[in-house]
Order: sequence, then C-alpha cells, then structure tokens
Amino acid sequence: MSILVTGGAGYIGSHTCIELMNAGYDVVVLDNFYNCKREALRRIKELSGKEFKFYECDIRDRKGLDHIFQNEQIDCVIHFAGLKAVGESVVKPLEYFDNNVGGTVTLLEAMRDNGCKKIVFSSSATVYGMDNVSPLKEDMPVGGVTNPYGRTKLMIEEILRDLYRADSSWSIILLRYFNPIGAHKSGRIGEDPNGIPNNLMPYITQVAIGKLECLSVYGDDYDTPDGTGVRDYIHVVDLALGHVKAVEKAAEAAGLHTYNLGTGKGYSVLDMVHAFEKASGVKINYKIVGRRAGDIGTCYSDPSLAKKELDWEAQRDLEEMCEDSWRWQKNNPNGYPDD
Ligand code: NAD
Ligand code: UD1
Repeated sequence: MSILVTGGAGYIGSHTCIELMNAGYDVVVLDNFYNCKREALRRIKELSGKEFKFYECDIRDRKGLDHIFQNEQIDCVIHFAGLKAVGESVVKPLEYFDNNVGGTVTLLEAMRDNGCKKIVFSSSATVYGMDNVSPLKEDMPVGGVTNPYGRTKLMIEEILRDLYRADSSWSIILLRYFNPIGAHKSGRIGEDPNGIPNNLMPYITQVAIGKLECLSVYGDDYDTPDGTGVRDYIHVVDLALGHVKAVEKAAEAAGLHTYNLGTGKGYSVLDMVHAFEKASGVKINYKIVGRRAGDIGTCYSDPSLAKKELDWEAQRDLEEMCEDSWRWQKNNPNGYPDD
C-alpha cells in the first residue's frame, strides 16, 4: 500500500514516514519546504533504510497534485501540510485560510478526481475551544476557537464532514492531536522551529542549550494544582504510530471517524520544567509572567476511543519525552543544517 504524506518533511510528518516504512508501507512525500529543510528527507532515508519518492509541490497547486496522482498509485493520503503558528495566524489570517483551508480543498478535489478517497487529517485539540471540561472526548461540541489557526482546523473538519455526508464512499479519519513533543530516539530528527519557539518544550530545550535566557511561565493563577497551565504531552513517535493505525482503519471500510491522540494525562508547566531538569541534568531558568491571551488552564484527552477502535495507546512516558527532546536539541543545537 502506498501513502502520500503531505508535509512529510515536517516535524510530525518525518517521524510518521519512518513508522509507515517500518510497518511496510510505501511512502510518497510531498512538501513545499515552507517550514522544513531538505536535510530532514535525507535523515528519514538514513533512519528507515528505505528509499521513497519525494515531490516538491504545494498543496494549492492542482496541476502538481494531478501529476503526483497520475505518476503514483496512491491508496491513502495523510495530510499534515499546513501553517501552524497561532500568533502568526492572528496577524496573517488570509494566508492561513488560503494555505490550510484552500490547500485542503484543492487536495481533496485532486484526490476525488484521481480516484483516491482515503484521508487521515491532522486536526488539533484546539477544536474543543475554551468551554469543554477535560478530559476531552470526541463527541463533545467543537467550536469557540480563539484564533484563525484553530479556525482553519475546525473549518477543515467541517468540510470533511460535509464531504462524507455528500459521498459516503470516502474514508476519513480526523486525528485530534494533543501536545506533541519528543523526537526520534536517534536524535537525528526532531522539531526545528523557526525563530523563537512558541511552544513550551522547544522553548525549554533552547533555554537548556543556552540559546534563550529564561522561560516565561504564562500565568500561575489557573485552577490547577500549582496554578500553571496543564496539557496532555504526547511523544511524537507515539503520535506517528497512531497514524499507522489510522491508515489501517481507513483501509478497512468507508466511514468518517474522529480520534483524540493523547496520553490522557495532564502535566503543568512546572511539572514539565522539573521533568526536563531531571532528564537532562540541566537547570532551567524561569520566571512567572502574566497569562498568554487565548490560553486555557487545563486541556487533556480521554484517549479511550482510539484504544478501543484503533488498538492504539501512547507507550512513552514523560521522562522519555524529555530525554528524547533533549538528545535532539543537544545533537542539533541549530536544528537541521541549511540546504
Ligand atoms: P511542520 O510545520 O513541522 O510540518 C508541516 C509541513 O507542511 C512543513 O514541512 C511545511 O513545509 C509543509 N507545508 C506547509 N504548507 C504547505 C503547502 N501549502 N504545501 C506543501 N507543504 C506545505 O508542523 P508539524 O508540527 O509537523 O504539524 C503537522 C500538522 O499537524 C499541521 O497541520 C499542524 O497544524 C498539525 N498539528 C500540529 C500540532 C503540533 O503541536 N505540532 C498540534 C496539533 C496539530
Ligand atoms: C498551543 C496553541 C494551540 C496548538 C498547540 C500545539 C495557543 C494559544 N495555542 O497550545 O492552538 O494546537 O500549541 O501546537 O498558542 N507556556 C509557557 N511558556 C512558553 C510557552 C508555553 O508557560 O514560553 C505554557 C502555556 O501557557 C501552556 C503550556 O505551556 O500552558 C503549553 O503551551 P504550548 O506548548 O504553546 O501549547 P498549547 O498552549 O497547548
């Protein structure tokens, strides 16, 4: 079986390509290099020991997509490609709607017209919005997102639900990721943020390596055990393995399914700082500052549906997530080398 991985050179995509190839799938990668480096592709080959096809292509390029579908026998698409910086999306909403929503519509049209109707989509816990109480379950109402990035995820979910209502021969799996961190055990691939990281773990690892001075902890007055924000951190390799299971599910029968991919456990910002210090042996400078706009206090999953229906469960604990994040950062202090 051959899987087209859009955004396959990015953080989650690169780890997923390796697990797909380990599981015996053929992989075709598409990326436009907007937020990744060519070196990631070389390292995917090195770690998997397998060859795969790569197309430099934008998901908004209909001709480019048709060329791929006509050249390759694609059975299923895993769709990671998208812009993901929350703050940037507030400043550049049109770019986010064009790239994420417009790009997905073009991809879906190309799939339909080329006879491929199986897709696994990268959604986010952000679609649960501000009002639901954790543990978050797939049948809770979605909406109330606080920024254009989150709205693109919600809109794409709605588009896919409408598509399935119109044509029930599609297989559609919506995966709602919680907070992916960690890296491949080898320390060869990992998250390579552009500029100052927005997310907690890459910020911590850059403080640890001395690139940043001090972590700002956004608020200690939430209704949580230590007052700092609580999230459901999941090892990126566990997340990647969830995609392998989702592809199996999509191949079984037509249908539309939604799954949380999380561990079901919540850790606070200070828990993360302390776990990282323990795993790395490095002290993290931090200071408490005000809350970040749009943040919620607590967000963690109920992952039981994915366990029941996908036979998938996260295996890697917080210590392993911290060790693997640190190995990647230490071995690649400046991320991937430039092309
Ligand atoms: P990433 O930026 O590392 O990977 C996305 C990849 O898509 C990049 O390699 C980028 O170059 C490519 N891309 C972007 N726009 C494209 C386009 N128009 N055409 C072709 N390629 C394009 O991000 P990631 O962390 O690996 O996230 C993957 C997906 O998962 C994204 O859709 C993201 O929104 C979603 N997601 C991520 C997180 C997270 O915390 N990392 C959480 C929830 C959901
Ligand atoms: C953020 C995004 C969310 C996105 C997710 C994964 C916002 C409002 N939400 O969620 O849409 O799906 O990333 O990419 O940006 N923290 C600090 N200091 C920092 C960074 C973070 O204290 O420098 C805290 C946050 O307040 C939060 C926790 O650490 O409590 C995790 O933050 P982060 O990694 O940004 O993830 P989310 O807030 O869950």
